[in-house]
Amino acid sequence: MPTATPIRELLTQTPPETLVMAQGWVRTRRELKDLCFIELNDGSCLANLQVLVPKTSPIYSMAAGLHTGSAIAVQGLLVASPAKGQRVELQAENITLYGDADPETYPLQKKRHSFEFLRTIAHLRPRTNTFGAIARIRNHCAMAIHQFFQERGFVWVHTPILTASDCEGAGELFTVTNLPLQQLPRNEQGDVDFRQDFFGRRAYLTVSGQLEAEIMATALTKVYTFGPTFRAENSNTSRHLAEFWMIEPEVAFCDLAGDMDLAEAFLQYVFRYVLEKDLADLEFFQQRIDGTVLETARNVIEQPFERMSYTEAIEQLKKANKTFEYSVEWGLDLQSEHERYLAEELCKKPVIIYDYPKEIKAFYMRLNDDEKTVAAMDVLVPRVGELIGGSQREERYDVLRKRIEANGLDPSAYWWYLDLRRYGTVPHAGFGLGFERLIQFMTGMGNIRDVIPFPRTPDEIDF
Ligand code: 4AD
Ligand code: MG
Repeated sequence: MPTATPIRELLTQTPPETLVMAQGWVRTRRELKDLCFIELNDGSCLANLQVLVPKTSPIYSMAAGLHTGSAIAVQGLLVASPAKGQRVELQAENITLYGDADPETYPLQKKRHSFEFLRTIAHLRPRTNTFGAIARIRNHCAMAIHQFFQERGFVWVHTPILTASDCEGAGELFTVTNLPLQQLPRNEQGDVDFRQDFFGRRAYLTVSGQLEAEIMATALTKVYTFGPTFRAENSNTSRHLAEFWMIEPEVAFCDLAGDMDLAEAFLQYVFRYVLEKDLADLEFFQQRIDGTVLETARNVIEQPFERMSYTEAIEQLKKANKTFEYSVEWGLDLQSEHERYLAEELCKKPVIIYDYPKEIKAFYMRLNDDEKTVAAMDVLVPRVGELIGGSQREERYDVLRKRIEANGLDPSAYWWYLDLRRYGTVPHAGFGLGFERLIQFMTGMGNIRDVIPFPRTPDEIDF
């Protein structure tokens, strides 16, 4: 097969005098006067390449019969375009049809489709402007994230997906089993006997790579993970997935203040990178989805984040002239409506809330001297709420052991985690960024199901 040039490259070229080839899927086709126009898209960028076939051409009738959605290759001359909004267009000399798309049944005809409908055809929705743009922005964000950490000497470590421990202690784990489901073996108490299972004990999909990242950080100093995580939370919200990607840096010799600084520099870097590399796609979201996308990006880059203790946040929420659905009381967790008020209305930019009551946070967070709060921090952002959750970790063996017990967890299951506090323990800290929530924040997309190609939520696992 002759090699085609990506449309992204063709569109920025000064027209060469030679034949070029483009491949892609027909977005639309129309006939006007003596010409047939084809809008061709190959996903390399948001824009289409305009292909022209004059009526006098021997391939005119073939071109005029092409259907939206079909896959073609076009060879021809790239010429300067007289039309507004594009530099070049392709004068077709030869068209190859790889695969037709029946106009009676192909669902992506020209009209606008709702995101709800597009979710039911997740195998075809990457061919729309929105989902193509999401895929490219995810790609740029991922590159930015790696580049940020690599430039700072972090080591990318790979933590397991199958695990026996519940990092967050919140009981939202998916069980992984090989036991015969028709005939589950039982122990003396009548419970399922996981000793007979594949690993000889009960296993799960990981909710976070943090505990293993801590192992690596207490040897390599600065590490990060970037992988899928799984949570069986039955919450059908626009911000929760059962499978989502998480980035978790973990840093030895670092305290909570250093952790907050890292989170802020990290987000600023990612936004700057995407603005530089993929402005066209961001502008698309600005025009079509949310008119504050570019302002949000600039705001993140240019302004320092607000920082506020949990205690102060509770005071602000109480002072707010607003009725919340959930009550506001010191000791209660912040609900999404509270988080959004703080970021969206009060601060109008990202805000880092720190020093939360120990009762509402995970066992591994470092107990503050007041013995009531832990050195935790959440980065809250407008529209999305919690984007990042992190903390300084409890590095003192005795305190950690007591916290594990107080949380109703079995210390023997965390023997290796406790060992890190027996041998060369060190202050360390880290955080987790929900990748899909970052994409939501950046693009203004309202539902998390529409920023990941194949969303996993309750009752949703086609594709
Ligand atoms: O706040 P979380 O639960 O923190 C942790 O998992 C820590 N182990 C992270 C760490 O310190 N290394 O989750 C971190 C982030 C949240 O702030 C949120 O952005 C995202 O992960 N997140 C989800 N994203 C989509 N769907 C879900 N169900 C999510 N649950 C958490
Ligand atoms: Mg959290």
